Amino acid sequence: MQTATRKKFWNDHYRKGSSTSSGRPGTALAQFTAPLTPGTVLELGCAKGDDAIWLARRGWQVTAVDVSSVALDLAAKNARQAGVSENLRFEEHDLAVSFPQGSFDLVTASFLHAPQDWPRAKVLRQAADAVDTGGHLLIVDHGSRAPWSWAPEDTVYPTAEDTLASLELVESTWQRCCVCPISRMTTGPEGQSAIVTDTIIFLRHLN
Ligand SMILES: C[S@@+](CC[C@H](N)C(=O)[O-])C[C@H]1O[C@@H](n2cnc3c(N)ncnc32)[C@H](O)[C@@H]1O
Repeated sequence: MQTATRKKFWNDHYRKGSSTSSGRPGTALAQFTAPLTPGTVLELGCAKGDDAIWLARRGWQVTAVDVSSVALDLAAKNARQAGVSENLRFEEHDLAVSFPQGSFDLVTASFLHAPQDWPRAKVLRQAADAVDTGGHLLIVDHGSRAPWSWAPEDTVYPTAEDTLASLELVESTWQRCCVCPISRMTTGPEGQSAIVTDTIIFLRHLN
């Protein structure tokens, strides 16, 4: 699949939705990163910027990436409105093809899922490679299907352990801060609520 196809899919998705930021970070992102000392952070799949803006407000220097130029434009607008533009840099990448340069104190990827075929495990390995010594990697994935999800009803979600194994990390160089499922209440597009499971991989890079 070509970058243009991926970009069109996500651009169409963001053109249909509301342009504003919810102003709320992901539950797991807030829970796991709040105790960290702010430094540099790379966010993969930043969408309209909710997590990136929250991190910037807390003093992180954020590099936020998405394949969708529509999402990135909305995120940049939302960041300006939030008054945190100077702490944020947005980069357009199809992560299947290119990856941001540099290393970071925190690399985060929340719900970096796509209905298209793409080399997700390779991208998550690159994410781990981009974490500085002493820094953290946070991957938050769907662990169950919300009733309104576009995923097929019989979708089998990998466990956190399965996803961690796919990263092929040298175990001795990472501290497992949390590799587990967590449950949360969430709200769907029409205001409906459901309890869903997220899988968390939160690691500290030792050396
Ligand atoms: C399901 S959304 C999750 C958005 C956000 N991180 C969140 O927690 O709600 C997945 C995001 O990843 C982006 N994405 C999907 N495939 C990508 C790719 N190949 N390269 C870069 N971004 C991609 C999409 O544009 C979308 O913003």
